[in-house]
Amino acid sequence: MEMGKELPVREMIEKALGMRMFSYVPYSGYRVGAALLGEDGVIYTGCNVENAAYSPGNCAERTAFFKAVSEGQRAFRAICIVGGSEDARAKQLAEYAPPCGMCRQVMMEFCQPDEFQIILARSVEEYEIYTLEELFPMGFGPGNLMQK
Ligand code: THU
Repeated sequence: MEMGKELPVREMIEKALGMRMFSYVPYSGYRVGAALLGEDGVIYTGCNVENAAYSPGNCAERTAFFKAVSEGQRAFRAICIVGGSEDARAKQLAEYAPPCGMCRQVMMEFCQPDEFQIILARSVEEYEIYTLEELFPMGFGPGNLMQK
């Protein structure tokens, strides 16, 4: 079996950690950073952006996806997610920050569930990698709407 290209895991974790600096979180204080690797090799970044009306707030992962798609990239290999209530500059986080259900659904739109890699990290040394299929089994995606 042909092995896929190695993921730039360390670079993705560093970028995701750095994005926590830009999180706008006056309500939760929970800073999330994301680094999304496009098939073009570009890493698209995102942070969470909250809102006084709560619902309009956006997660870090969806910020990264919408930045990428709005710049013409629709194919992705992996995303790294980091999150926690620690200081914006923290490079070591206490817990993993798994993606919320809505973000998993957005991933389903653009990613192959059995191929797309989700890197959950607490630091550059501590991380776990899952496929989208593992975190979102039997997800509903574009294929379900295809005419037979
Ligand atoms: N959050 C994310 O950015 N990504 C997730 O997948 C889970 C939750 C954000 C939303 C909100 O700003 C804060 O974390 C607390 O829920």
